[in-house]
Amino acid sequence: MVDMNRRGVLTLGAALGLASVVTPSAAWSWSPSGSIAGAGTGVDPQWVWDDEIDQIMASALDNGQVPAINDAILPWVNNGQAVPSGLPPELAAFLQREKQLPAWADMAKLRRAANFNRKKDMYLFFLYGLGGGIMSTVIPREAKSVYWSAGGADMQDRAAKTFSFGYDLSDINAFETSGQFLVTSNKTRLVHAAVRHLLPQSPHWKAVADETIPISNADILVTFHSTGTFAHKKMKEWGIPMLSADQDAFLHSWQVALHMLGVRDEYIPSSWNAAHAQSAQVLTPILGLTPEGKALAEVLLGLISQVDLGVTRGFLNEFVRYQLGNEIGDWLELKRDYVSAGLIRVGWPAYIAFREGLLPLVPANFYLFDQLIKAIAMAFLNRGESGLTTPITIPTGNRAG
Ligand code: HEM
Repeated sequence: MVDMNRRGVLTLGAALGLASVVTPSAAWSWSPSGSIAGAGTGVDPQWVWDDEIDQIMASALDNGQVPAINDAILPWVNNGQAVPSGLPPELAAFLQREKQLPAWADMAKLRRAANFNRKKDMYLFFLYGLGGGIMSTVIPREAKSVYWSAGGADMQDRAAKTFSFGYDLSDINAFETSGQFLVTSNKTRLVHAAVRHLLPQSPHWKAVADETIPISNADILVTFHSTGTFAHKKMKEWGIPMLSADQDAFLHSWQVALHMLGVRDEYIPSSWNAAHAQSAQVLTPILGLTPEGKALAEVLLGLISQVDLGVTRGFLNEFVRYQLGNEIGDWLELKRDYVSAGLIRVGWPAYIAFREGLLPLVPANFYLFDQLIKAIAMAFLNRGESGLTTPITIPTGNRAG
């Protein structure tokens, strides 16, 4: 892993546009007064997992029940559908309870968030798909666990499934009876619980991990900051107009998503200020390069650039550098393409201005950004002939090697 000294952390924080940055060795000190719960134990979320479902999935895996569970949950898709029959009773009871929205969820805000997501979908697509996607490869715990879990062997399929989470969260009906988010998030929670039991049995994982059990509450918060918080920061930095009620609603949809993924309310930021402060503490200091992350980034960027829409690998590399900064670009050894870098530096702000109605004429090179978004969509949202992504299924093993 790249050694991050304080100066490195500061430079990286600035490159990513993070508000303030703390030292890498700082212990957990984010105050629960900035959380949804408003108070808490102060326990470091790195040591908090999802006990009840972790135990249920561990016993289901040990007893060979997972293939039957996967069959039972396959047709369970919409929020309004009843929890399927045929599940072990403790799992059925868990899902029955946990598929409900938390008491603090505000449907008016969630509907507003859905509208906001629709209006900003193009930016979110770039920010989640390229920025967040590649940032995840320099989050060592995430990169290693994704690489060594079963899904790491087929990154296109895995990326498509993760995109479907974002898709379901951003859908206009996400939280309505006809939407799918409450089901998708619960299925994801089951997958994460299974991974917590499986990965510690992987010799590869054991050889590289600095923790035994992956996907703690802190790890999930880190992923939120590399996607939601990062998107919020960049959209502000890029001058994209956002009403404060919309920003609030956007945060609210993430707050609910985090709760549905099993993060305790005492860790879920109650405001964007609190979220950015938490991000500076939990995300920036841990960024670093691992062999697994480098390999994953290559696969992800290769998948996009192999879609033949005239988006060159150089342009893609430079767009990643534009979003994440040169330090991360250098770690990943993304080859420079200075012509593309210049095009992006001038063209991207013009593209935004045109889309926001601030420029009367279509700017030169407009099509390049449109082609890029199509290429990302084709690489990761390819829903095949059935029109559906591969359904989220609970793994029963790890990546072989
Ligand atoms: C699986 C989303 C956080 C590691 C999944 C899946 C989704 C998802 C939708 C199911 C897709 C699949 O089966 O491949 C999310 C979201 C997160 C989050 C929205 C936070 C906001 C994390 C974190 C880690 C992680 C923090 C690790 C540190 C994994 C792994 C799998 C998985 C290893 C299983 C892949 C397999 O099937 O082998 N996640 N995740 N996730 N996630 Fe997450």
